Amino acid sequence: MRMITFSILRHFKYNLAYKISRRLKSDTVEVKSDHLKTTGSSPDPDYIEVLPSWPEGEANMRIKATSSMRIYPNFVSEEEEASLLAEVEPQLKRLRYEYDHWDNAIEGYRETERDSWNEQNAAVLKRVRDMAFQPYAQLLPRAHILDLAAAGYIRPHIDAIRFCGNTIAGLCLLSSAVMRLVHESRPELQLDALLERRCLYVMRDVSRYEFTHAVLGGEHSVWRGEKLPRRRRIAVICRECPLPEHRE
Ligand code: OGA
Ligand code: MN
Repeated sequence: MRMITFSILRHFKYNLAYKISRRLKSDTVEVKSDHLKTTGSSPDPDYIEVLPSWPEGEANMRIKATSSMRIYPNFVSEEEEASLLAEVEPQLKRLRYEYDHWDNAIEGYRETERDSWNEQNAAVLKRVRDMAFQPYAQLLPRAHILDLAAAGYIRPHIDAIRFCGNTIAGLCLLSSAVMRLVHESRPELQLDALLERRCLYVMRDVSRYEFTHAVLGGEHSVWRGEKLPRRRRIAVICRECPLPEHRE
């Protein structure tokens, strides 16, 4: 039996999910006044690069965007990475990579979900939850396992608010990659995030709701002017439940 019952990317036509998030967004995007206190205000200079198209004057939005996208390098050790892979690989191997869905936000991928883990991996997932989410946050019960082939990539999209709440946390395994964030209505506001192998990233608030995110592939995978070869990459993504007002 296929385990896929949920995917932010799969069950929705790309544009539809995008439009829904746009239509409802104005209700949900509210930068709380304590936001900068809880996430820190300085961009991470090693892992976040504001692109040159970003106008000098947009410092306020720059702080909101860069402080709501956090990257924790070496969040898991090589042993922990190997242990996570050993547990998800048998599940993934039964699936084929999917290509050529013109309406999908993603190319060259297979995906599954997982809610039970062996003891070592469960401890890693708990560390992710403790780092990324507020103690009272309600998480989707299953982690999303997204396997991108070396030639795979993710087009710009905003995770549909019907399926996912504020905070999104992704553990990056097997290959480093560049994630590009572009403001939904002001495309000159762009930044790149370096997602190194074994890092954790946490996206919330402005970066999650107002910016699209994409995982670059092929010749577009460039970090600070240098090619960053993309190999097969697996992300283990934990998400919050949708806000009550967005649930079906
Ligand atoms: C997604 C997504 C990013 C990643 O599944 O919606 O954007 O890190 N994934 O793979
Ligand atoms: Mn996404």
